[in-house]
Amino acid sequence: MAAVGQIDLRRTLLGAEIAMPICVAPTAMHGAACEAGECATAQAAGALQTLMVASTESTRTLEEIAQAASGPLWFQLYFSQRTHDFAERLARRAEAAGYRALVVTVDSPRWGRKERHIRSEQTFDWPPGGNFADAPEVAGDDGDDDDGAAITWADIAWLQALTPLPIILKGILTAEDAARAVAHGVAGVVVSNHGGRQLDGVQATIDALPEVVAAVAGRSEVYLDGGVRRGTDALKALALGAHAVFVGRPVLWGLAVDGAAGAQHTLELLRDELALAMALAGRPTLASIDATLVQRPE
Ligand SMILES: Cc1cc2nc3c(=O)[nH]c(=O)nc-3n(C[C@H](O)[C@H](O)[C@H](O)COP(=O)(O)O)c2cc1C
Repeated sequence: MAAVGQIDLRRTLLGAEIAMPICVAPTAMHGAACEAGECATAQAAGALQTLMVASTESTRTLEEIAQAASGPLWFQLYFSQRTHDFAERLARRAEAAGYRALVVTVDSPRWGRKERHIRSEQTFDWPPGGNFADAPEVAGDDGDDDDGAAITWADIAWLQALTPLPIILKGILTAEDAARAVAHGVAGVVVSNHGGRQLDGVQATIDALPEVVAAVAGRSEVYLDGGVRRGTDALKALALGAHAVFVGRPVLWGLAVDGAAGAQHTLELLRDELALAMALAGRPTLASIDATLVQRPE
């Protein structure tokens, strides 16, 4: 009998007001899903007044994506010790184009072995376009470094000295790394295992979330991605302390079905499911959601 006539999904992420705590995770190559690529995704996120993270490996330039966007944008940055120059150029471009934060993906010192990807390599053509036009030599150099040039904590300090944009680390899964991230002064961490696409057997992000939330203790924002497929998944993550969740593959599926309209529909379904789940759980505001909603079987 809680008053659930009005469900309020609004949230603020690092100062950016959004209409729901469900945002778009960075995924590469939206041009493979629909012709307008990330511009379509940005339109969809804007229609829902939510935030999108554009990937370094987008098939549209970060400037084109910013043109198409009406909601806030963050830029996901892949770099290695060999590509500091290019990372600096990307950071400057992101600043100039109005991106509000840099999301540094830290779980990819090498690529996981994706067997379906290996099988499809003969038939897959990288869609044209994207951010690498002024640095073709680093195209695809995303930290996949067998030569030990993958980024370390020192590179985070390098990036912080370079840019005024807040930095978020994506791919944190333990209390120890979360505490270290906070000690490095990052503005946020994304509890992510890259969609389970890097290390087989890694824990689920929803299981890693509570220890990260406890270690961060409110000193930065904590987000989660991985396996959010229903509004109830988002509700569970919020209950366990995520400030917002990000969705990757569902947005790609929407794009592949019907471009911007398809991605928009995906986000609308998730929004409506979350609102319904909150109403049925008697929690009309995000602030009223707490860990008592989640029970774990022993
Ligand atoms: C096709 C694909 C491409 C991805 N590309 C990137 C990327 O360029 N940068 C990045 O940080 N994460 C990338 N990811 C990981 C996502 O950001 C996210 O962590 C993951 O997909 C988990 O969310 P999901 O279960 O909702 O897909 C990619 C994931 C997929 C499936």
